[in-house]
Amino acid sequence: MFSRAFFVLCSVVVLGATLASAAPQAQAHIVRQTGDLECNINRVRILGEIFLVGQTARNLTQELASDHQGSILIGVVNKALVSTEDGLADIASALFNQQPSPAAAITQVGNGISDMFDAASNITSTNAAVKENVNTLKGQLQEASFAGDKVEETCK
Ligand SMILES: *[C@@H]1O[C@H](CO)[C@@H](O)[C@H](O)[C@H]1NC(C)=O
Ligand SMILES: *[C@@H]1O[C@H](CO)[C@@H](O)[C@H](O)[C@H]1NC(C)=O
Repeated sequence: MFSRAFFVLCSVVVLGATLASAAPQAQAHIVRQTGDLECNINRVRILGEIFLVGQTARNLTQELASDHQGSILIGVVNKALVSTEDGLADIASALFNQQPSPAAAITQVGNGISDMFDAASNITSTNAAVKENVNTLKGQLQEASFAGDKVEETCK
């Protein structure tokens, strides 16, 4: 799901860059529909952070394999990650079709990030490697959330 979102969104950015050399009238039209450069940078940023979240979550899933409570919590993180990626894929598909981002998908992404943060915060392992990765994960989720706020600000 994630790679579909990533591919579609990158296509939108490349499309925007390609069309930057188009006639001003056509250009203004496309920019209105796909967002300006800053907006697209923020969209790519959120995808990049969620990609990193996926890597950290995979690492934690292995590290917590023999920790019963930790496994349950990272399971919650992984489930919310899939939901977040699905929401991002829906948004990317809408953008690709020059439709506005669906409100339900935006909510799904926001809830997914906050559910991941809550579950990660509840991991109480004393293992130093786990602690480090939990902190990394939370930092990446905060960055993703920050990029999401920026998308709302810059993508009109
Ligand atoms: C995390 O802990 C809080 C407070 O104890 C609790 O309300 C919440 O349901 C927990 N979340 C998960 C995913 O376990
Ligand atoms: C997993 O996390 C540890 C730190 O806790 C790090 O040393 C290791 O490189 C990570 N592995 C991967 C595959 O990211």
